Amino acid sequence: MFDGVYSKRRCLITGHTGFKGSWLGFWLSRLGAELCGVSLPVETPAHFHLLENYGKSFFCDIRERESLQKIFDSFQPEIVFHLAAQPLVRLSYKEPVETFDVNVMGTVNLLECCRRCESVQSVVAVTTDKCYENPETGVPFAEDSPLGGYDPYSGSKAAAEMVVSSYNRSFFIPESRVRCASARAGNVIGGGDWAADRLIPDLVRGAVKGVAAKLRNPGAVRPWQHVLEPLSGYLQLGAELYKGPACTGSWNFGPAESDTLTVGEVAEKMHRCWNKMNFEYEEEKNAPHEASLLRLDCSKAAEKLKWFGVWDSGKAIEHTVMWYREFYENGRVMTADDLECYCRDAEEKELAWTK
Ligand SMILES: NC(=O)c1ccc[n+]([C@@H]2O[C@H](COP(=O)([O-])OP(=O)(O)OC[C@H]3O[C@@H](n4cnc5c(N)ncnc54)[C@H](O)[C@@H]3O)[C@@H](O)[C@H]2O)c1
Repeated sequence: MFDGVYSKRRCLITGHTGFKGSWLGFWLSRLGAELCGVSLPVETPAHFHLLENYGKSFFCDIRERESLQKIFDSFQPEIVFHLAAQPLVRLSYKEPVETFDVNVMGTVNLLECCRRCESVQSVVAVTTDKCYENPETGVPFAEDSPLGGYDPYSGSKAAAEMVVSSYNRSFFIPESRVRCASARAGNVIGGGDWAADRLIPDLVRGAVKGVAAKLRNPGAVRPWQHVLEPLSGYLQLGAELYKGPACTGSWNFGPAESDTLTVGEVAEKMHRCWNKMNFEYEEEKNAPHEASLLRLDCSKAAEKLKWFGVWDSGKAIEHTVMWYREFYENGRVMTADDLECYCRDAEEKELAWTK
């Protein structure tokens, strides 16, 4: 898979203990990569703790550039995936300074370490679909749509995009050693996410406690995809960048148009898979602004990377609910089963990255 690029390759992941980072580390270890992770200490429960032993794992704040540089110097990574961030919109209203600091200066520090570390060749900086200026017209955003951001999280990720673009134009020019791209994906679901203020973790917490989760914004339209979908995009991008400069720049990785569902529709589908997942709508007075309509145009990834989604929203929801059900009812961690099934389905579709 991925042209065998990851076998025995030294890969560094920031945010390796987080939801996406833990799945990415697991997948990379299955691909034979040598791993190094950099994150803050983990809160429990954490998907990361449920998986096999990691390679090297460091607790380091990405705002501390000197400490981060030491990790780069000792591990000498060849491919870097930058996922560490303050990723929550609502928390960003409470902690705007920290959000900008981690998401913007953390990205500057990361890219600076990549620039100074002679081994680094390929960098995938993960931002979000919320980095686009969103007039909420329903028109899908392509990679050249204007950047923007109403809330501090979205604004900080748009600013992180500017950081990547500036480093790409100033330092990581085509003939240079480092090749860097940013990846913009939407809301992801999957087992092992226990973050606050996210739909699926809220529903899971409700199911476990036997209470109905409170749903805000039931009509909000989002692109929903399983966490393995953007990860296949990040891995394909990382491998392409390792091979050459053709894929620098920014990339959207989202689901098909038919998989943009409302929050209410997703909650109902989840309830049908596990009837302990109950919910009720709650209107919030003085709620902070959250965009209610967001669509991504992923034709660039389809045309140039031949990247396509594997599971539709129904299958993504089914696997997600089963992961939590198995975990809470039988103590089983389904991560390896989900990954195997996802790769098998991708092979059946003959997707480019499965070669
Ligand atoms: N989960 C989603 O639906 C989603 C959607 C779009 C984009 N993203 C982006 O994907 C990335 C990963 O998101 P996630 O959902 O896995 O988040 P998460 O909260 O589960 O994990 C965040 C990770 O970043 C680390 N981190 C946070 N601040 C740090 C700091 N100062 N120094 C070092 N490490 C730090 C944490 O320790 C953790 O490992 C983020 O960049 C996020 O913005 C996530």
